[in-house]
Amino acid sequence: MEKAKIPSHIGIIMDGNGRWAKLRGKERSYGHRAGTANVERITEHVFNSGVKTLSLYAFSSENWARPKAEVDELMRLLELYFKKFLKKMQREKIRITTMGDISVLSERLQKVINNSVALTRDNDRGILNIGINYGGRQEIVRAVNKLIENNQPITVENISANLYSAEFGEPDLIIRTGGEIRLSNFMLYQGAYSELYFTDVLWPDFDEKELDKAIEAYGMRHRRFGKVEES
Ligand code: IPE
Ligand code: IPE
Ligand code: MG
Repeated sequence: MEKAKIPSHIGIIMDGNGRWAKLRGKERSYGHRAGTANVERITEHVFNSGVKTLSLYAFSSENWARPKAEVDELMRLLELYFKKFLKKMQREKIRITTMGDISVLSERLQKVINNSVALTRDNDRGILNIGINYGGRQEIVRAVNKLIENNQPITVENISANLYSAEFGEPDLIIRTGGEIRLSNFMLYQGAYSELYFTDVLWPDFDEKELDKAIEAYGMRHRRFGKVEES
């Protein structure tokens, strides 16, 4: 039997925290705390499954439009999460990277993030890439502007090379939890040929079993990249 294909790079749009909380008669922030806890469980399982890179959509460039109290809570959780995760990622030999414009975050949060990125730089078992104030359109515009500044031709390869993900490339599989069937500005350029997997399961409920289901579904897909399938 053919060995099941494991995606080398998975992207996850972690959606549904608010609805998860609402179903329990709680505030949205309760859902965000549960969602953050779930990141820990899933991250571990992803790397144990043989996946090399995990890109998580934590906060979009559009999420600033939410009520201030919710944004503040999300920022607080990011700080907590980075601090907690640093030790764990060190132990697991996972490198932490980010995508998105973090320069607008509080100085304190930027320090925590930069510290995690710097201290894990040489870890080589996998990459945990976190999208914070991230938008796919903004990323493409940024890449094109960098090329213009450096007087380089605007080509598909040059744009790729100037995305946040330049080093580790494109997700083989993009998972979105929470029932919406859209990308909401996540890895638009890199996702051109990603396999997409949508599930109604809300992010805090997306456990190891659900992840296995997504990886299994990926294993059944036939990727053609525009070519004719070899028989
Ligand atoms: C995803 O959950 C977390 C972030 C976008 C930060 P939501 O907060 O979007 O939850 P729903 O979609 O309202 O249920
Ligand atoms: C996408 O979810 C952003 C993250 C998961 C961080 P949203 O909840 O912001 O997306 P929309 O508003 O439903 O498109
Ligand atoms: Mg949502």
